[in-house]
Amino acid sequence: MDLIIKPTEACNFKCSFCSSTAIDPDHAGLLDLDYIYKFLKRYPDTATIIVNGGDPLMVDPSYYWKLIDHLDEHNYPATISFTTNLWPFLIKPKKWVDLFNHDRLGICTSFQYGGGRLKGDFSEFTEADFWLCSDAMLKHCGYRPDFIAVIVEENIDDAIKNVELAKEMGVVCKLNYAMASGIQGTTLQLSKIYDLYVKIYDMGLADWEWNTQQMMKRLGGSATTCPQNRNCDSGIRALNPGGDYYSCGAFGDDMDYPINFQEEVIDNGPLQTPLQLDPNIQSMKTACFTCPMFQICNGCKKTVRDMKREGTVESHCRQMKTLAPRILEINGLDPNSVTPYVDETPDNMIAIANI
Ligand SMILES: C[S@@+](CC[C@H](N)C(=O)[O-])C[C@H]1O[C@@H](n2cnc3c(N)ncnc32)[C@H](O)[C@@H]1O
Repeated sequence: MDLIIKPTEACNFKCSFCSSTAIDPDHAGLLDLDYIYKFLKRYPDTATIIVNGGDPLMVDPSYYWKLIDHLDEHNYPATISFTTNLWPFLIKPKKWVDLFNHDRLGICTSFQYGGGRLKGDFSEFTEADFWLCSDAMLKHCGYRPDFIAVIVEENIDDAIKNVELAKEMGVVCKLNYAMASGIQGTTLQLSKIYDLYVKIYDMGLADWEWNTQQMMKRLGGSATTCPQNRNCDSGIRALNPGGDYYSCGAFGDDMDYPINFQEEVIDNGPLQTPLQLDPNIQSMKTACFTCPMFQICNGCKKTVRDMKREGTVESHCRQMKTLAPRILEINGLDPNSVTPYVDETPDNMIAIANI
């Protein structure tokens, strides 16, 4: 198991696309460490505790030291991975440096071009700001962190620049499509990000973009990370600040499909999750089940749910049919095995039924 924790909703940034602005009805709550301790008792082999938010650095370092002490005391193997905007670290490195250099801890950060990442005063977090944070990490911790770039309609033309920046920094970035949660109203249509991954591959930039690497082996079934893993809910859990519990961090952002913590964790209940039981989120279309592109085009269950809601499934499918031969080829499969496009819009189905 891996565990995502969002210890607090509080954040020093004001990103215009943020998916995590409504994860805590209290808005100022702090996840009680006892939830994590109970989780670890149930899943002692937990590999990674991913710390998200809000921003992890809005919580006092003593919180994480207590967690590390607990891991040490019980001889748990878990490592801890922060995703942080690093701004508080840039301002006060001394406060964080010992924690950041602890053997169990790794740091990932976030940056993208296009103006949506905003600091606390609503000014843009610029490339120059990002270099300052990255340089501070290099100086105090000896490495530059990898970063996540969120792609929305407004910054899509700048998306590949993020990969070129990653190459210049000697790190790997992850271009993630925007999910519809929090103040981000819509999902970026999944085919648009695959269009980018194919371009990144063809430009020889795959070594610096994580999801392109996943796409290259996805149809062989060996891609394992979010948001390109269809079976993630059997291997990950998420805790929000109030202790509510999910099998997906993204559905946790919507506070949707919760799992009963008492039943699964305290009473050692079964691992079947609400996501496995809902037939509506297993695929975008019926035709997907016989299409060799199934694993790619269906994204994750949160994406299926949201794109169905937004009515973008058919345009996504049409664009994917044009990308499919190249993606199949990249995966070492027959490019001619693409199945024909089937229009499943309700209006069309009615029209066919009336003929
Ligand atoms: C919610 S943030 C919390 C961590 C930290 N505050 C940061 O900005 O890195 C976790 C990651 O999700 C990304 N993110 C935010 N909104 C998103 C959205 N609508 N869709 C996909 N990813 C998003 C952020 O850019 C960041 O990389």
